[in-house]
Amino acid sequence: MSTSEPNQENKALTALSEAFIAKVEAQELRVGIVGLGYVGLPLAEAFVRKNLPVVGFDIDDSKITHLESGKSYIKHISDARIQSMFASGKFSATTDFEGLKTVDAILICVPTPLGKHREPDLSYVIATTENIAKHVQSGQMVALESTTYPGTSEEVLLPILEKSGLRAGVDFAIAYSPEREDPGNPEFETSTIPKVVGASSDAERAMACALYGAIVPTVPVANLRTAEAVKLTENIFRAVNIALVNELKVVYEAMDIDVWDVIEAAKTKPFGYMAFYPGPGLGGHCIPIDPFYLTWKARAYGLNTRFIELAGEINSNMPGHVIDRLAEAMNENLGLAMKGAKALVVGLAYKKNVDDMRESPALELIDKLRERGMEVEYYDPYIPVAPSIREHPEVEGMRSVEWTEAALGKFDVALIATDHDGVDYTPLLASVGLVVDTRNAIRVKADNVVRA
Ligand SMILES: NC(=O)c1ccc[n+]([C@@H]2O[C@H](COP(=O)([O-])OP(=O)(O)OC[C@H]3O[C@@H](n4cnc5c(N)ncnc54)[C@H](O)[C@@H]3O)[C@@H](O)[C@H]2O)c1
Repeated sequence: MSTSEPNQENKALTALSEAFIAKVEAQELRVGIVGLGYVGLPLAEAFVRKNLPVVGFDIDDSKITHLESGKSYIKHISDARIQSMFASGKFSATTDFEGLKTVDAILICVPTPLGKHREPDLSYVIATTENIAKHVQSGQMVALESTTYPGTSEEVLLPILEKSGLRAGVDFAIAYSPEREDPGNPEFETSTIPKVVGASSDAERAMACALYGAIVPTVPVANLRTAEAVKLTENIFRAVNIALVNELKVVYEAMDIDVWDVIEAAKTKPFGYMAFYPGPGLGGHCIPIDPFYLTWKARAYGLNTRFIELAGEINSNMPGHVIDRLAEAMNENLGLAMKGAKALVVGLAYKKNVDDMRESPALELIDKLRERGMEVEYYDPYIPVAPSIREHPEVEGMRSVEWTEAALGKFDVALIATDHDGVDYTPLLASVGLVVDTRNAIRVKADNVVRA
């Protein structure tokens, strides 16, 4: 890695680590956050609230314009919160990456989606790191927060950053700290969720823990790969357990047992059971995607991730299963065929209480209902007009219907895909002949309600 004596390298790293930590303690450390989306923006706010100056960087002009005019583009972050970040005098946002030279820590929060063949798409991380390499300074710390496979920091980031001529672990530090943000969860936010922190040396780990420790409790782990694996493990755990409960739902449906009743009773066991809930399929930017980062990397070791593949298969069969149940119920309860009938999809977001439609199963349900000849509209109080979604161009511009008996009465069937809190289902139950509920949103048993 270096031609100089190990002692000198260690000394250089110790010195930079001590200087960095002293700056955190003096609240003088300047934080640069690259990618001001669902993860980066609340992270910036958490540092600002602790009086650390933050510069936010994004390639999307419109985000910077929004922020500078005191407007939020994320539903659960109010305009007032953005305005108070600026009012503190501790926050600025820019598309000019020259500013990276002026910060002490660079935290990368850019997307890590999947490619066409379910392979990791690190193009955003690579583009960002190449940009950082042009500006990286001696004494800085670069930390990746994006979810990714074990090895990314060492195998992808480090060589790109060292093209700068500076050496990782000597001239600048590298850390990995996965984001555990759960948008829309009223119980937890960035500043109350402990942060796992991994680095290759004690000195780098101490730097990262000092920085993140200013906003949250930290959980230091042995190295970069361990930290990368922690995040995948958490999301794989969810994906597999959701698949399990989706499988149980199908089996219990056939046995005329309500899986929701089963879960309610099972979760009274005070140990050894954790409740997961079935649904119409996986959604969001994390659970349907992240597990396949490990699958891809495992192949390089000649290993198959059979649990992950099976969970993916079961979860991705759910929209089809729900549509079959809906067809059956229309036939039995209404004596109606799908073709030409009118369906209302209730809830477009991928989960309750958010306005995020990424990977939402509701989109696939709309496609499938239309494929079977149904006329489809939607209701979602958080999404008045459907934005453009690359894989589902046909939903763009659709408008949420009015939630009144008069407006709902024209639908033959309603399909509840997302159970936002605060929706009063009374007008729906009063005016639609069949309600197919994939979320147990309608707690009471009623003749026109079918669980799916
Ligand atoms: N959203 C979540 O709830 C969540 C939770 C945990 C982890 N994560 C992970 O965090 C990462 C970020 O996710 P997100 O939901 O915040 O994504 P996002 O799409 O909301 O935000 C990403 C931001 O990065 C910007 N960006 C893209 N390329 C860039 C570049 N080269 N330079 C600067 N900015 C760039 C985009 O314009 C966007 O504003 C992903 O790896 C994701 O898996 C997300």
